[in-house]
Order: sequence, then structure tokens, then C-alpha cells
Amino acid sequence: MAELSVVIVAADSEQQTVLRVLVDGTSVARVAHVCGSYPVAAADPAMRRIQSGSPVVTLVDIPAEQPGPALRALELLRQEMPQTALFAIGSMSQPQVIVSAMRSGAREFIERPTTTTDLLEAFVRLTAAQRSVKQNEVRGKLFTVVNAKGGSGATTIAVNLAMALQATHGNTALIDIAPLGHATLQMNLKPAFGLGDAVRNLHRLDSSLLESFMTRNSDGLLVLAGANAPLALEPSANDFARLFDMLVNQFRYVVVDASTRIDGATRLVCNLSETVLLVAHADVASLWSAARVQQFLRDGAGKNKVQLVLNRFRRIPGFSETDAETAAGVKLLWKIPNQYFAVSAAIDRGVPLMNQNHTDLARAFAGLASRLTENDVDVKRTAWSLFKSV
Ligand SMILES: Nc1ncnc2c1ncn2[C@@H]1O[C@H](COP(=O)(O)OP(=O)(O)OP(=O)(O)O)[C@@H](O)[C@H]1O
Ligand SMILES: [Mg+2]
Repeated sequence: MAELSVVIVAADSEQQTVLRVLVDGTSVARVAHVCGSYPVAAADPAMRRIQSGSPVVTLVDIPAEQPGPALRALELLRQEMPQTALFAIGSMSQPQVIVSAMRSGAREFIERPTTTTDLLEAFVRLTAAQRSVKQNEVRGKLFTVVNAKGGSGATTIAVNLAMALQATHGNTALIDIAPLGHATLQMNLKPAFGLGDAVRNLHRLDSSLLESFMTRNSDGLLVLAGANAPLALEPSANDFARLFDMLVNQFRYVVVDASTRIDGATRLVCNLSETVLLVAHADVASLWSAARVQQFLRDGAGKNKVQLVLNRFRRIPGFSETDAETAAGVKLLWKIPNQYFAVSAAIDRGVPLMNQNHTDLARAFAGLASRLTENDVDVKRTAWSLFKSV
């Protein structure tokens, strides 16, 4: 591993010293410059000093009591120095700060007090990810599928959406965080490892270890299997923050099946997501639940992030799509037709609908996948290309 040049940005002088010692202690990186103030503008002399260090990694210390300036500095650094990898150092007891840091462009959030091992692992992950993600600088997109009410069809939608994305774009992962994981069952896969193993090994997780915990289907879709017993594992929001940060660095598209898991950890994953697909049926109880769930998930998430997917859709006289949107309080993204026998048979046989030529349903899932990726620049380019890039 070539020696990485690192710039440290920390207002606290003790942290400056500690971080310098830790970085040098990894022996794979060296400190090019230590900056004692958070840059506030592109023309800020602090920014010029950071740039002159040509850092591969910029470590930004986020003080727990006043995180604002450090978070704004991350944002500015991402804009002005897109080639540097931003690592945030901060307290793991502030999930909102972790989310903000990642949104601002940090690719790692490292716990304070930090150790040389933490930093070394983060440096190793960075070089591994740069090697494996050919279209580097592009962070993957996360789509989370959540039920308004148990049995609405989240798993069916997550599985088939992930398969549609894999078929069109490749480099897709499906992550099962549901209370009881049904995704591999629907795909007739026999996972040896899963989410629990990834979370238990977070301290040493890199892209190859993560892949070894995943199960590959015949189309190359990688699935991180869910819990196989109730309450077998309760990953915290912080665990998920680290895991999903890795996932979006490794995959172009990540689909999450949350099903009926509606808790703080799911909310954090929704926060990190590009779009949250809230699955409901067009009936009063389901739409009432959808309104409650979206209120909980939207707390902190972007305004239009949560969108409605009406599953088992069929036209009901006197009930319009606008009525469904009003009742649920979210915009309608997509409709999946009601085809009970086809869906049930697919689940029972473990042959997902995307693997069958059942035209209506396969078309609905493929349409959903292209709707979710229609604004992706690289996807448009792929559509033009004679050769698939993945
Ligand atoms: N489009 C559809 N048309 C008809 N039936 C459907 C459709 N989608 C799902 N179903 C039926 O709904 C049931 C539940 O599906 P699935 O397991 O995907 O739901 P879920 O919301 O993930 O459930 P859980 O709450 O247990 O996680 C299945 O038995 C399936 O047959
Ligand atoms: Mg489910």
C-alpha cells in the first residue's frame, strides 16, 4: 500500500497532536499538514493550506459540543477538493451528526477516542474501495423498502427491484434488515452468513470480508441475508451508519428490505437513502398506517424522500390515486398490479418474478427500477453504450 498523504483539520490542539501520532502510527500514511481552523470559504487561507498538502485523505475532527463549523467544512472540502477522501472523527453517540457528516461527503465516520487500528482499517478500506469501484468518486444509491403494514409486499418489491437493477446496471446489493429475513427464502438461496456476521465484524470489515458474508444469486446480485430468528440481533443505528457507508462505497445500487422494521436504525438507513419506498395497499387501514410510518421516517429525512408504492393495485370505482396520496401524505411513485397466484407461486417456489416471463409484474418492477435511476448520469451513458460497462 503506497504511503497516503493526510491533512488533519482540528480546532482542538490536543486532538491535533493525538491524530498526528495516530496517523503516523499506522505507517501507511504520513501527515502533510495540520490545520487548526475549519475553512469557511473557498478563498479562506486555511483552505489553501489544506490544498497545498495534496491530501489523499483529509481527517476532519467534529467536536461533540459544536459540530456545525466542522460539518460545514466537510461540505466545502467536498466541493473544492473532490479528489480527497474525507474522514470524519467524532462521537458515535450522536447519530444525527453521523448522518450529517456522511451527507456532507465524509466517506468514513471514525469514533473518538480514535485508535491507530481504527485509522489503519479506514485507510485500508479506502484503497480497497478505490480498487474495486471502477467508477470511483460515485457513491452508490440506496433505496429502502418499508411496509406501511405487515404483509404489504415489501420483500417481494425489494427482491424484484434489486434483480431488475442488477440485470440492467450490475453491481447491485440487496440488504435484508427485516425483523425476520425472508429475502433469501424468496430467492431460494441458502446463505452461510448474513447481516449479523457483518455487524459483529464491523471493526475489521473491508470490501472483501463484506462480500464473503453475502450470497450471490445466478445473476450476480449480492444478498446480505437477514435475521433467521427473532431478536437474534439488534444492530444499532451506529452499526448501520458504518455498514451502509461501506455499502454505498462498494455498490452502485443498494436495495434494503426493511419490511416491518420501523425503528431508529431503519430511520437512519432511510435518512441515508435516495428514495424510501413505502409499500401500502389502497385500503383505509393500510393508508392510515402509511401516514403514521411516513411521519416517523420523515423526521429528519428529506421532504420528498419517502414515496408511496401501491402494491396489489386494482382500480376501485370512486377511489382515485390522489385520494391515496392524500390519505398517506406522500406522493405516489409506482403501482404494482394485484396478481396473487403469480406472486404466491413465485414466493413458494423461490423463483422471483423477475426470473419469470410474467410480463405484467416483471414489467412493473423493471419500470420501477428505471424510474428510480432515470436521472443518473452514468445510467444514461450506459443506455447509449453498445457495451455494458459492468
Ligand atoms: N403484487 C402482488 N399481488 C398479489 N399478491 C401479492 C403481491 N405482492 C405480494 N403479494 C402477497 O403478499 C404476501 C406478502 O408478501 P411479502 O412477503 O413480499 O410481504 P412483506 O410485506 O415483506 O411481509 P412481512 O410483513 O412479513 O415482511 C405474499 O403472500 C404475496 O403472495
Ligand atoms: Mg418482508
